[in-house]
Amino acid sequence: MTMGKTAAGTRPFREIPEITLPSDYPMRVGPFLAEMYQRHGPIFRTNSFGLDIVYMVGPEANRFVLQTDRLKFSYRQGWGNLFSVLDIFGDGLLTMDGAEHDAHRRLMNPAFAIAYMDRYVPLMNRIIRERITKWGERGEIDVYDEARKITFDVAAEALAGLRAGPEVDHFRDVFMRMLTLGMVVGSQQEWEERMSALRRELDDLIRPKIAERRAHPTDDILGLLVTAADAEGQPLSDERIIGHANILLVAGHETSTSLSAWLFGLLAQHPDTARRALAEQLELVGPDAEPSLTDIKAMKYLDLVLMEAERLYPPVSNGPRGVIEDFDFAGYHVPAGTYVFYSIAATHLLPGVFERPEEFDPERFAAPREEHKRTPYSLVGFGGGPRVCIGINFAKVEIKALVSQALRRYELELVPDQTLTQYYRVTAVPLYGIRLRARERAK
Ligand code: HEM
Repeated sequence: MTMGKTAAGTRPFREIPEITLPSDYPMRVGPFLAEMYQRHGPIFRTNSFGLDIVYMVGPEANRFVLQTDRLKFSYRQGWGNLFSVLDIFGDGLLTMDGAEHDAHRRLMNPAFAIAYMDRYVPLMNRIIRERITKWGERGEIDVYDEARKITFDVAAEALAGLRAGPEVDHFRDVFMRMLTLGMVVGSQQEWEERMSALRRELDDLIRPKIAERRAHPTDDILGLLVTAADAEGQPLSDERIIGHANILLVAGHETSTSLSAWLFGLLAQHPDTARRALAEQLELVGPDAEPSLTDIKAMKYLDLVLMEAERLYPPVSNGPRGVIEDFDFAGYHVPAGTYVFYSIAATHLLPGVFERPEEFDPERFAAPREEHKRTPYSLVGFGGGPRVCIGINFAKVEIKALVSQALRRYELELVPDQTLTQYYRVTAVPLYGIRLRARERAK
């Protein structure tokens, strides 16, 4: 395909079916886009954000964007510019393209390999134990709030060597104010002013940590970045390290918070599933011990439930990309300069891909059904291809450790008369939280 021209038989951009996003779109991203797929096929577009956004939906679209044709797409334009990650957090793995990205990813990959998780499990277990200890006394908790404290403390210690306490609380508070700023400001100018003040606050927190690591290198990720060299053999600048650290901290807790909260919500709504998950925990770990990495890897039933939570409540709904080279997909031409969203949330709800997709059914992932294996790129809660989420092992180990401890210690029930609603900003939030009653199990 040559730039700017449409191949014979391919329909031009303006003929891509156009849709209008409903006002409640943030509360039903997946179901709405899956419905549009049934009506229009795997590609359609909207202009609701004042920009042309092309939605590409379904496993074939995912394979195209994430694997076969991935070099036609830019993360920098998608995550970086369209989703403002560059303005908010700086330049890190999620906002880089091409050779620069690959070099930085290679640098960080070892610290995210599954074998490396051995060194994070003890700190995950400690932070989880300390945080959940009070649940019984309190009686009622919002598991979304609780999960955020846990995942942030874990990310701060594992990635940046910061021990839980007032300093980490300050970090978490600044991140939260950044993530929610868009909902409280009145104008673009106010947003810019307040965001740059928050960025200065964050920089002031992290810069001394970098200086400390330069003087005394450590083996957490911040230590690794400080001692690393770029392609020219130069050490990474403070700005570069800050960008990486911010993105790892935010990506490392925001998404895990949402997924673990929904996992608890689902277990509370499906007592049979919760009983089977508990039985597996007791068999593997016993009533009181903390799970080891070996135990965590053996939690096959919990894996199924976690995959079903990922399918039904993916923390990232759509992956944004800028188009940097024209392409044809499903009979339509898409020119460079447009934006594409590949849709995670909609793919997970397509009836041709998953049986009765609206139902909670963890067994769909077990042999012999293994629905996710029938169609590659159908379960994409962590993305896919060479740029699959770097934190997938970290997140799964952490969430399983959390469920393991909480399930054996407490009977957890949903507080009655609450509405559970997934709401998508850039990532997902249960809009009114997920409130649970926690009762200490009899020993
Ligand atoms: C439940 C937890 C998580 C979910 C659902 C999740 C989801 C995702 C998704 C969907 C992508 C790909 C985005 C795209 O294709 O546009 C991604 C990328 C990424 N994630 Fe995660 N993530 C999770 C946890 C983590 C953790 C714990 C970390 C770090 C500690 C992390 C760091 C990153 C980074 C740095 C990238 C960009 C990777 C690259 O482009 O090379 N994530 N994540």
